[in-house]
Amino acid sequence: MNTVATGNLENAKSLEFPIPSGVFAEKVVSVEHYTDRLFSFRITRPQSFRFRSGEFVMIGLPNAEKPVYRAYSIASPAWDDEIEFYSIKVPDGPLTQHLQKIQPGDTILMRQKPTGTLIVDALTPAKRVYMFATGTGLAPFASLIRDPETYEKFDEIILTNTCRDVADLQYGDNLVRDIVNDPLIGELTEGRLRYVTATTREDFPVMGRVTTRIEDGSLFAALGVEPLNRENDRAMICGSMDMLKDVKALVEKAGLEEGSVSTPGDFVVERAFVG
Ligand code: A2P
Repeated sequence: MNTVATGNLENAKSLEFPIPSGVFAEKVVSVEHYTDRLFSFRITRPQSFRFRSGEFVMIGLPNAEKPVYRAYSIASPAWDDEIEFYSIKVPDGPLTQHLQKIQPGDTILMRQKPTGTLIVDALTPAKRVYMFATGTGLAPFASLIRDPETYEKFDEIILTNTCRDVADLQYGDNLVRDIVNDPLIGELTEGRLRYVTATTREDFPVMGRVTTRIEDGSLFAALGVEPLNRENDRAMICGSMDMLKDVKALVEKAGLEEGSVSTPGDFVVERAFVG
């Protein structure tokens, strides 16, 4: 009895405002900071919550009567017991100025309905899928490269992670390093998941925007594959608005046609969360 009463009291104290209806209130399990601009965190997963790898949800903090919500791609795969997010920190960002300070045990609000177009069902089958990510646009792909469904649909998965500076690549580097040892997915990824990193501002072996490397063919030459083509390739794109526009124009130039959940096609795009 005592334990229950104390637990309830603690809960009430940690939430300055009541939990709005239609949202889950979950606990932060762990937080990892990579740079002064990037961090990731994991929260508990509500038992009834279902989503498809690659989708996003709206999350917020219980720090106001009307909490600020932002769209966040779920970075963990659909089978994971916890929910992972990868986030930017913006000093005066309405949500991230507070979110960047979370600690294990804190409460995160999550709206109950996930959605999004970066799911494998929105693509028609092909030999290869490119996942073009810049910055925190990597998040949905962190989910998709850990989902066996992705490997059922495509023989080869090419994840490109392009960031401003070397340290910005860390989250993706850790992810790909750890995937090899994952008991569920490790074996599936062997020789099939290819990871291409590049920076645009700090010295690194491969430098240049992904758009430049698509246009000049250096991306494909480095991989030893033929240039982007509709017969063999599908694409998923996630980054800033400008990045989406520019990469989309290039994949369309290569003959790929945009798909959606209701009408699967050759490529899909989604804006990464910013601010
Ligand atoms: P750059 O350093 O040349 O701006 P951001 O953090 O601003 O979203 O940028 C993440 C990465 O995306 C950076 O490497 C950045 O390159 C790159 N980028 C920004 N705009 C575009 C674009 N229109 N097309 C391709 N890459 C872009």
